[in-house]
Amino acid sequence: MALLPIIETPDPRLRTISEPVERVDDALRALMDDMLATMYAAPGIGLAAIQVAVPKRVLVIDLQENDVKTPRFFVNPEIVWESDEFSAYKEGCLSVPEQYADVERPARVRVRYLDYDGNTREEEMDGLLATCIQHEMDHLNGVLFIDHLSKLKRDMLLKKLDKARRTAGAA
Ligand code: NI
Repeated sequence: MALLPIIETPDPRLRTISEPVERVDDALRALMDDMLATMYAAPGIGLAAIQVAVPKRVLVIDLQENDVKTPRFFVNPEIVWESDEFSAYKEGCLSVPEQYADVERPARVRVRYLDYDGNTREEEMDGLLATCIQHEMDHLNGVLFIDHLSKLKRDMLLKKLDKARRTAGAA
């Protein structure tokens, strides 16, 4: 397994619309394994392939609740149903490092996807998992969580990110 470099905003590749996967094969599983290792090392709870500069509709998620590892792999995920009810979570993103903001999304979603073995699955999700998969699926369409914020909030957050990078660069 290899750790892959994570690209960060404003890298234009993060705005790519990722392509559907044609076949879940060993090469794709190797990518998913590398993505999972990269996500754990970051550390994070979700990672989309485009964040490691691969424009494929592939996600890995592990909420690691109670420090228990439960890796999940999603290929070509689609939301087939979402609740009318919304919930807000303080979101962050490995491509917008160390910055967090509340984002409202449907509280529950039903997602259809191919799993690690290429089998079609459908699953209803709620709580943090529902938020996380919607955040990761946004990446497949070139959308970042900061796009859900008002321009004022987004500009403030990006200014903080710039400042943090300058401080790190000067150290
Ligand atoms: Ni993200």
